[in-house]
Amino acid sequence: MAEKKVTRIGVMCSGGDSPGMNAGIRAVVRTALYHGIEVYGIVRGYSGMIEDDIYQMQSRSVANIIQIGGTILKTARSKEFFTKEGREKAYSNLKKRGIDGLVILGGDGSFRGAQTFSNEFDIPCIGLPGTIDKDIAGTDFTIGFDTAVNTAVQAIDKIRDTAESHDRLFIIEVMGRDAGYIALHSGIATGAENILIPEKKTDIDNLIASLQEKEKRKKLVNLIIVAEGEKGGADYIDKIIKEKIPGLDTRVCILGHIQRGGSPTCFDRLIASRMGYHAVECLMEGRFNVFVGIVNNRINYIPLNEAVKKKQRINEEWMKIVKILSS
Ligand code: F6P
Repeated sequence: MAEKKVTRIGVMCSGGDSPGMNAGIRAVVRTALYHGIEVYGIVRGYSGMIEDDIYQMQSRSVANIIQIGGTILKTARSKEFFTKEGREKAYSNLKKRGIDGLVILGGDGSFRGAQTFSNEFDIPCIGLPGTIDKDIAGTDFTIGFDTAVNTAVQAIDKIRDTAESHDRLFIIEVMGRDAGYIALHSGIATGAENILIPEKKTDIDNLIASLQEKEKRKKLVNLIIVAEGEKGGADYIDKIIKEKIPGLDTRVCILGHIQRGGSPTCFDRLIASRMGYHAVECLMEGRFNVFVGIVNNRINYIPLNEAVKKKQRINEEWMKIVKILSS
């Protein structure tokens, strides 16, 4: 492990926001201050680093935020940071303040940026997995996923009420980018009849046959949860169903950004606090360029460059459970 001593760190969010990021920022700021390390908040992630939108944070800067969704530091996806020139500007802004370590809350794209930056300028970076998508290998959980799934579950439960009243089939699209975790978890928790995710090839003929069979036995209420990364999304699935079973009364509902907001669940607050605390410990111990994950309830450190290569795999058992429970 490295010998370098970290005295002044920057904390920032990057990529899509996720509920619990504030709890993570709070943990980083308060742990660092406890150890006598100065903390600077970098506004709008890599963009703020380039534009020098950086301010010193105190303990009170993070008061009363643990329960608030979004991020007080704001977030962005910076195109300029992809250029060497952009990264040089960013580095000179850190250097003039003496910032010698970074904690980045974000997803795999943000970690990729951190790894490049650290290779070029020898700034140690620690990642905290903050994404509703849960699409980072090396951790069982990501900050924001639990809240997003619970938001989706509440919305789908409400849709079921109206689906039931009208004997309708609802095709509900949830977020997740290329990952099907929000769809899988929210689908199981709401008793959805079908869950379509990009990790598993959808057998459309089979889907249509099962809907026709259910129609015959007068099971008219069906919920199909579609991950946004599934080919064509909910609209495409609806189009095919309408073509093949013209009599069926269907509606599409795309849940969208509602899944990204709201007060974080207790679980997201807990993991964000725990991970944030360990991020600072990593910097103090010289455990550089890793992200902090949790596996089997133990803290797991994964090199940033490994985190960006792998995605989480869907447990096959879940698919079996869906099939059995929704029959
Ligand atoms: O990565 C989080 C996420 O919400 C994805 O689930 C979704 O595909 C994407 O971000 C949406 O991004 P934007 O807010 O830029 O539309």
